[in-house]
Amino acid sequence: MDVLENFKMDQKIVVITGGAGLLGRKHAEAVIEAGGVAVLSDISGDALEHALNGFKARYGEGACEGHIADITDKSSIESMKDALLKKYGHIDVLINNAANNPKMEGSAANMGAVQFENFPVSLWMDDIAVGLTGAFFCAQVFGRVMSSQGKGVILNISSDLGMIAPDQRIYRKEGVAENEQTVKPVTYSVIKHGLLGLTKYLATYYAEKGVRCNAICPAGVWNGQDETFVKKLTNLVPMGRMADPDEYKSTILYLISDASSYMTGSIVVVDGGRTCW
Ligand SMILES: NC(=O)c1ccc[n+]([C@@H]2O[C@H](COP(=O)([O-])OP(=O)(O)OC[C@H]3O[C@@H](n4cnc5c(N)ncnc54)[C@H](O)[C@@H]3O)[C@@H](O)[C@H]2O)c1
Repeated sequence: MDVLENFKMDQKIVVITGGAGLLGRKHAEAVIEAGGVAVLSDISGDALEHALNGFKARYGEGACEGHIADITDKSSIESMKDALLKKYGHIDVLINNAANNPKMEGSAANMGAVQFENFPVSLWMDDIAVGLTGAFFCAQVFGRVMSSQGKGVILNISSDLGMIAPDQRIYRKEGVAENEQTVKPVTYSVIKHGLLGLTKYLATYYAEKGVRCNAICPAGVWNGQDETFVKKLTNLVPMGRMADPDEYKSTILYLISDASSYMTGSIVVVDGGRTCW
């Protein structure tokens, strides 16, 4: 068989949590461009509508659909699953992508409140609820469907910060008092490392049921962050630059398609070399 055939997603139904966000939309493009149906699921109705309108104009009506769902609420995921099974009869891929993303880089906001010693337990619970419990619920709901089908793929979106600790020096701001300095929140590390544990657990749990589970660890995407921050970050990256938002699409497609049919439990790092240093 032509090797490129393995990358085809024809008629495959791919659920993408946080599908209306920056990278969720890119994962959806990869799915649609390979012939699959991207099911964008997001808590934000406005962002979802905006994303779907863009995709429908670009790729046509049948290429995607949207579901407003809060992944911290298992019944909301069950409803989406029921609607998808009724419409398509199968669900082939789950991409656990949603997160409470701290957009602190370049922000003027005082982030002293999230320094480790001050980190509020309410924020800890909220972040974990989306990043870990949400992924757990989705894997429970869609994993059951896939295992009964005898085939399916779960892809967890971790981060370079699922492999290494954040270098807090790059978030520091000149002229800001020590107790007011911005830090990458502790939950980010815990969630992204935790997703790698979930990946290995699910990979082995489901191996004999035909369900594969892998993780990708992307590094920072350039999205208009301020120049000082970008300079400090890119100094830590051997390739000397942040990722372009399109640069994960082909790895995503590889991991969710039959092109990676003998891969499960793998952690694929795509980070411009950052974790080598
Ligand atoms: N952008 C980067 O530089 C980068 C780098 C490494 C890893 N990542 C990871 O990639 C993933 C996507 O990042 P992004 O930059 O697109 O983030 P984003 O903030 O643009 O998108 C996240 C989406 O998740 C949705 N969401 C939040 N809570 C939800 C909930 N309870 N239920 C359903 N949806 C919910 C948000 O509405 C949002 O649309 C995240 O897991 C992030 O940690 C991003």
